[in-house]
Amino acid sequence: MEQVFVVDHPLVQHMLTQCRRTETKTWQFRGFVEEITAMLLYEAVRDRETVEKDIITPVAAAKGRIVKDSEPVFVAVLRAGLGMVPGALRLFPYARAGHIGLYRDHDTHVPVEYYCNLPPNISELDCFLLEPMLATGGSAAHAISMLKKAGVKNITLLSLIAAPEGIEAIVADHPNIKIYLASLDEKLNENAYIVPGLGDAGDRLFGTT
Ligand code: URA
Repeated sequence: MEQVFVVDHPLVQHMLTQCRRTETKTWQFRGFVEEITAMLLYEAVRDRETVEKDIITPVAAAKGRIVKDSEPVFVAVLRAGLGMVPGALRLFPYARAGHIGLYRDHDTHVPVEYYCNLPPNISELDCFLLEPMLATGGSAAHAISMLKKAGVKNITLLSLIAAPEGIEAIVADHPNIKIYLASLDEKLNENAYIVPGLGDAGDRLFGTT
């Protein structure tokens, strides 16, 4: 699928493996998620345009290049997406951040919004949706629809791990969205956990297991 990019850099794979391990502690897990996010984002902005800029170094006048008109916004899907925000803001410290909270209705299994706080000018921003585990893809697909409804034109999804089912859901609903992953795993189990995955990303980030 040409909209899906698995970042197979050795450091990403090394840190993802540490994240997966049961014995990895909460504080270590947070650090790895932060680092992986920064590396996924690094790849995701590879095709952004740059423009020439005249600068002065301590030695001479020079021509440099800077990222063109880039005002990113990072939108975390609560709660696990919060763990990805520090890594993203590290690369773009001046970026804005938004938050989307969704839960799954018990009977219909349809995602229901309980929180949405986005920058007012989001339609003009370069938007990155942060959802570490793309399991069924239902929440991410719904969050993308919310962003599109808010007028966002440029949306990239960053996830640590996806199941094939999650990818299929996004590709079916949003064929124009690029997805950057550290791993495409094997499957979902009967409880909709990704296999082999890393367990519940929110619990592992916040020590609530
Ligand atoms: N959410 C998680 O945190 N982990 C999974 O495996 C699936 C969904």
